[in-house]
Amino acid sequence: MQYRIGLIHGDGIGPEIVGEAQKVLDAVCGKYGHTFEYVRLLLGGASIDANGVPLTEETVAEAKQCDAVLMGSIGGDAATSPWYKLEPSKRPEAGLLGIRKALNLFANLRPAYLYDELREACPLKNEVIGEGFDMIIVRELTGGLYFGERKTTEEDGVRKAVDTLVYSEEEIRRVARKAFEIAGKRRKKVTSVDKANVLDSSRLWRTVVEEVAEEYPDIALEHMLVDNCAMQLVRDPGQFDVILTENMFGDILSDEASMVTGSIGMLSSASLNETKFGLYEPSHGSAPDIAGKNLANPIATILSAAMMLRYSLDLDREADAVEDAVRKVLAEGYRTGDIMSEGCQRVSTTEMGTLIAERI
Ligand code: IPM
Ligand code: MG
Repeated sequence: MQYRIGLIHGDGIGPEIVGEAQKVLDAVCGKYGHTFEYVRLLLGGASIDANGVPLTEETVAEAKQCDAVLMGSIGGDAATSPWYKLEPSKRPEAGLLGIRKALNLFANLRPAYLYDELREACPLKNEVIGEGFDMIIVRELTGGLYFGERKTTEEDGVRKAVDTLVYSEEEIRRVARKAFEIAGKRRKKVTSVDKANVLDSSRLWRTVVEEVAEEYPDIALEHMLVDNCAMQLVRDPGQFDVILTENMFGDILSDEASMVTGSIGMLSSASLNETKFGLYEPSHGSAPDIAGKNLANPIATILSAAMMLRYSLDLDREADAVEDAVRKVLAEGYRTGDIMSEGCQRVSTTEMGTLIAERI
């Protein structure tokens, strides 16, 4: 089959890790007889450098013509990069938020899975890890604090800033349905995370999630307060199957969940709308400190490409092949620096990509 894939290389380590994912996708094409036409799209700092803004209408329009978009990472070092001298709405991150909104990517899926081979890299004690864990965070991505009205004012010499957290029941319902559908294909449990003991938006969240749960009688639903969830993730991560939560809580909890898997360099993500289209990106950032040094771990991006094959292109067999190849390379003892442990062989970004591509 023929597919059109948008590639956002982005900033920092982005171009390196996307290059390795492309290597793996090319191996998939060779083996399974598909053709991927790649379209390069600019976003974030790279778009600021070329066009003066972090996202153009052209990028949005071109993305819409693609079956899916694979992205590396955007942003730079806030202390040194000239991008951060611009006003907040013109900075790289605004481009990412803008494309999520423009493409209506309201459901962000972030799996956190402990590879047996990486138990050594996991910062938790063996008795806490137990049988391991395999969860997926479903984060609402186009609402809440990220998109509410905000302003900074000054009155009588006193500065004041306000951000607003708004959710409509429709926004809650559609992402909740995604979470229940995903749970139906897994261990059939949804943990909905909120702060209903304080926030009105969380109380509405809880009510609507309960209404949605009635449509899925075979799925178990529990509610958990976000502070408790932050604790449970390091106390007993094995209890979670699908975590459903709002935008800001999901941002924070997904970084925490990724860290307990051993390295944020392993975590993929998918941002989906109501159609098959999705934007796929690693959960980690652009790591400007190691950019261009051939040190970054490309696995999160390669696993994001696997998610793209599965969710947007319906190529399950091919997605399995990519995930198996990653597992094989880890089992054979190859590691990038971030997941290195004793007795393993340390490899570069490009070596890791080649090793995985060769095992497709
Ligand atoms: C993420 C990132 C972004 C977010 C930033 C870069 C705006 O942290 O994808 O988790 O907060 O959503
Ligand atoms: Mg984040």
